[in-house]
Amino acid sequence: MHISLEKQVALVTGASSGLGYASAKALAAAGAAVVVNYRSQAEPAEALVNEIREAGGQAVAIEADVSQEDAVDAMFAEAIDTFGALDILVANSGLQKDAAIADMTLDDWRTVLDVNLTGQFLCARAALRQFARQGPRPWVSRANGKIIHMSSVHQLIPWAGHVNYAASKGGVDLLMRSIAQEVGEQRIRVNGIAPGAIRTAINEQATQGEAARDLLRLIPYGRIGDPQDVANAVVWLASDLSDYVHGTTLFIDGGMSLYPEFRDNG
Ligand code: BGC
Repeated sequence: MHISLEKQVALVTGASSGLGYASAKALAAAGAAVVVNYRSQAEPAEALVNEIREAGGQAVAIEADVSQEDAVDAMFAEAIDTFGALDILVANSGLQKDAAIADMTLDDWRTVLDVNLTGQFLCARAALRQFARQGPRPWVSRANGKIIHMSSVHQLIPWAGHVNYAASKGGVDLLMRSIAQEVGEQRIRVNGIAPGAIRTAINEQATQGEAARDLLRLIPYGRIGDPQDVANAVVWLASDLSDYVHGTTLFIDGGMSLYPEFRDNG
């Protein structure tokens, strides 16, 4: 089955590495013009833009800290100036600042909530405002806009030593579902993706050597994920093939959320 996102414009936050990078690349390969958002890593963002252009696609890199209202609004304005419309938002930017609860600073808490949750609110709001301004674009999609929130298995699975991260992702779940409930009638589709252990910079230590063996015990399907596993789902959720999928979270986790510790316990 061939998925085409020709004539659509996608904005991917946190696209200079990891899941955002793979998602931006996959959306471009499916024909979308792509805004590659980054905060500090200009080099890989620009390299991805060049790669997309060399392959005949359209892309632009835009720097913005998604936790800052003005920066987000300026990024969306520039994106729309560049490509004339917006069809797909992948609200992906996210980070971890891990610490035992007793040692977690207010700064660790706030930074994670600001980027992972407030950032998704600000970007979703900016996208929804643009979807309303531009109206339906039936020649590109049945939906009047699509938003994909990058969550985590930790919207469901509590995570000791990472309470800021787990709280932010629990928040993303209800943010996504509440927005979906609110804007469904406008024919705007809103969904989430909850990745499990995917090999990226965010979990480099946990996915290598001895630690990787421990991690595999938590993954019934028996392998650590690749960014492409998530990017494939992003492309599908952005396309009309998923036109009746709304307000749901797709877990891409090799079964991590199946409570594998119970295989021979309990
Ligand atoms: C986290 C990773 C972790 C994975 C599974 C993700 O959301 O960012 O660090 O390996 O969840 O626990």
